[in-house]
Amino acid sequence: MAPLSSVDDFVDLVKRNTLASVLCALVGFPLACFVLPIAAPLALVYYVLVQQNMVPSPLALQRQSAAKAAETKVEEEGKKAGSDTTPASGVKTESEGKAKAGASVVGKVAQRPQVESSVEGGRPLTGGVALLRRMREQKAAQAKRDNPDKKILVAYASQTGTAHEIAKVVHAQIAESCGSAKIPVLAAFNDVDIDTLRADKFPLVAFVAASTGDGDPPDNTASFYAKMLRKSDDEFKGVKYTCLGLGDSNYTRFMAVPRNMRKKFQSLGAENIYWDAEADEVDGLEETVDKWTEGAVKAVLKEYNALTNRSGGNVEAKGGKDSGFLGLPALLPRRVQFTWLSAKEGEGVKKGLRFSRDHVDGRGSYGPLAPYFAKVKSVKRVTPADYEKQIIHMELCLEGSNISYKPGDAFGVLPENSADLVGKILSYLGEDGSKCFTTSEQLNSIQTPCSIKDALSLHCDLTSPPKKTLLRMLAESCGEEKEKASLLEMISTAGKERYRKEILEGQPNLLDIFQAYPSCKPHAEDLIEFLPALAPREYSVSSASQVHTGEMHFAFSVVEYETVKGRVRHGVATTWLSKLAEEVEQGKTVRIPIFMRPSKEFQHPESISKPIIMIGPGTGVSPFRGFSHYRSFLQSRSKQDVGESWLFYGCRDRTKDFLYEEDFTELHEKSLLNHYEIAFSREQAEKVYVQHKMQDHQEKLGKLILEKEAYVFVCGDGLHMAKDVHKKLEDILCTSDAAMTPSSAKSYLQDMQKGGRYVRDIWS
Ligand SMILES: Cc1cc2nc3c(=O)[nH]c(=O)nc-3n(C[C@H](O)[C@H](O)[C@H](O)COP(=O)(O)OP(=O)(O)OC[C@H]3O[C@@H](n4cnc5c(N)ncnc54)[C@H](O)[C@@H]3O)c2cc1C
Ligand SMILES: NC(=O)c1ccc[n+]([C@@H]2O[C@H](COP(=O)([O-])OP(=O)(O)OC[C@H]3O[C@@H](n4cnc5c(N)ncnc54)[C@H](OP(=O)(O)O)[C@@H]3O)[C@@H](O)[C@H]2O)c1
Ligand SMILES: Cc1cc2nc3c(=O)[nH]c(=O)nc-3n(C[C@H](O)[C@H](O)[C@H](O)COP(=O)(O)O)c2cc1C
Repeated sequence: MAPLSSVDDFVDLVKRNTLASVLCALVGFPLACFVLPIAAPLALVYYVLVQQNMVPSPLALQRQSAAKAAETKVEEEGKKAGSDTTPASGVKTESEGKAKAGASVVGKVAQRPQVESSVEGGRPLTGGVALLRRMREQKAAQAKRDNPDKKILVAYASQTGTAHEIAKVVHAQIAESCGSAKIPVLAAFNDVDIDTLRADKFPLVAFVAASTGDGDPPDNTASFYAKMLRKSDDEFKGVKYTCLGLGDSNYTRFMAVPRNMRKKFQSLGAENIYWDAEADEVDGLEETVDKWTEGAVKAVLKEYNALTNRSGGNVEAKGGKDSGFLGLPALLPRRVQFTWLSAKEGEGVKKGLRFSRDHVDGRGSYGPLAPYFAKVKSVKRVTPADYEKQIIHMELCLEGSNISYKPGDAFGVLPENSADLVGKILSYLGEDGSKCFTTSEQLNSIQTPCSIKDALSLHCDLTSPPKKTLLRMLAESCGEEKEKASLLEMISTAGKERYRKEILEGQPNLLDIFQAYPSCKPHAEDLIEFLPALAPREYSVSSASQVHTGEMHFAFSVVEYETVKGRVRHGVATTWLSKLAEEVEQGKTVRIPIFMRPSKEFQHPESISKPIIMIGPGTGVSPFRGFSHYRSFLQSRSKQDVGESWLFYGCRDRTKDFLYEEDFTELHEKSLLNHYEIAFSREQAEKVYVQHKMQDHQEKLGKLILEKEAYVFVCGDGLHMAKDVHKKLEDILCTSDAAMTPSSAKSYLQDMQKGGRYVRDIWS
């Protein structure tokens, strides 16, 4: 207040205070009389409620509003940094897309923050700073729970998709049981950075591994496998694993890949936590697969929980208790989002293919996603038109493709399903096949936009006997409860025998299932996502590029057989190829999508000085046509001594299915093929096979192998022929001058295989 300096100042003060007093009296009286009696009890009640934490205090309200603003900021920062959706480093996972489709981690953090003080450098933090700190900590903890550092790897080594399908089930069951889709990571081995197999990244690994070729790793594992075999010391120390091996005991290198992988995992310090299961195609895979899956999921979760101090993971509760059936395979979650295009948007796509028919790679490098469309130059039918079996020789034009190949290589063909089958499935589903879609992530080899018809024709396996996980999805799509229950029963523990009879032996295709369960009407997108991918088929090259310039030849036998239920089945690729052959015969231009599958071992030796013994009945003789032409080419350019060449070939009847008769006869007549032995199996009462012809020459063959270091090549049927021929080779070594014991003959052949002197290209 300013000091009084005069009388006027004093008078003025009195006047102002009188006015204030009058004003106070005018406002204060009604306030005291009417408002206070109501406001005071209300204020008292409010005070009590605040004290009891039943309503927020004005201060808390103010802080909450500040917190909300700060939280929004943190969310925005989080989104900018993208840290919440970062996949496990070092692995290209199949589930990365799920993070996009599912609830965002940031969204889950939006809980009311607690207002507490924290301490920094001995000085308590209060208010907004403490609040922000606290929020960040909460957010980090939540993110860690949702996207923990330590994950479970579910990996697969798969050539034709079986191991992949099993791994998907294991992955889904772990995710379901532990209540987080982010803890298990599903990946093909080649997509796993081997250096992430460490206790702090992937302390738990469950893997399913198959072999292909002659004990070789599948394509999706080959590079990981090679890296793994080069590793030493205890680089996998702290990693715990369980492995399911898939194989076929008809192959002499039975379970080669899973066994080698397990051995190497252990030698690198990893610890096995469950049964080393091996499922053999000969006995049927189902029983072992189901048993391992159930036990492996439990074992992995138990270990993971112990390692990370997590709780939960009630595996027993899963498997369809709700539906009343025990042991059901997991209902796999939908991973991919489909966006349907309007008729206008899909217009240009309807007739579109998955890849450009004009694609040319400068290095001649093609693959299933970008194949070369090779023009069919000519076809020749080996078998008479009225014969029960069809064998076709086909010549492709490679000019301008930059593809190079060696005799012994194989190539992949991307086949199409029967148009009739696709048409029937579309009309059963009531779907317009020209409807187009895009997907939220890559689905098999589908390149979008794609029409439903193209997806079913080019990308989905419609004919292999359906796996249990597919049947589970189909069961859920049944309108009739009775049909659903019947399907569920068949894939439950109780329905094991039914599954074996109706599915594994009956070999129904998708349409057969629909006809048996007519209320089953899955959505097109469910089918496209859950049907296994249509696998490329491989064929052995039967030409030599030095002799057949700009061309590549092959021969195929058309697969046709009757199932135990009397259904006639047609092989997908060979039936499609035989229809294309008809079109070529009618003068039409036909092109087929192909890519090379070079063979590392099945190659003609560079030197022709060593003898070569080739054994290949049926279409298994194909690579030996290429070998023989190549050998004659090398012979024409070289002055070195030439080793003997032997070919053991077998077919049913010289007048019916004698493949490449002209070529081999001519090469033999010119002494470019020294010995040409043919077993005609059906020209007499008793079967005569290639191994009988080998028996006739056992002494000579023994000498060639043991004394002249001959190469032995076997190609064709891996189920019976390759096994019988292997046995014959053992016998020959035992009866040779060296008189080996059966076990030393076995190890001699093993050593020959290791040294690349006994090489097989076999298939079942
Ligand atoms: C490296 C390699 C090289 C190959 N080279 C050649 C070659 O040069 N020529 C050639 O013709 N093939 C060759 N094959 C086989 C070829 O890849 C295909 O598997 C074959 O052509 C059949 O394909 P598909 O689509 O017509 O039959 P799919 O539709 O695949 O049907 C074949 C399936 O039908 C079932 N099946 C077949 N016959 C019967 C039966 N009698 N009873 C019950 N079930 C049966 C089996 O499950 C079989 O796997 C090769 C395979 C490999 C791996
Ligand atoms: N993935 C597939 O579906 C597929 C596709 C093509 C070929 N293959 C397999 O590959 C093989 C070759 O097929 P293909 O059609 O070209 O020829 P194939 O006509 O089935 O067989 C060629 C010759 O081999 C004989 N043979 C049968 N069993 C034998 C054995 N254990 N040891 C030696 N020879 C035996 C046959 O005799 P008999 O017939 O008189 O007994 C015939 O004379 C077949 O065994 C077939 O299973 C499989
Ligand atoms: C061409 C071919 C080669 C095979 N080679 C072997 C082998 O050498 N050893 C073996 O145990 N099984 C072999 N098998 C059997 C597969 O490993 C078995 O069928 C497995 O279930 C396939 O799994 P996938 O579909 O995941 O590739 C072979 C199968 C095929 C078709």
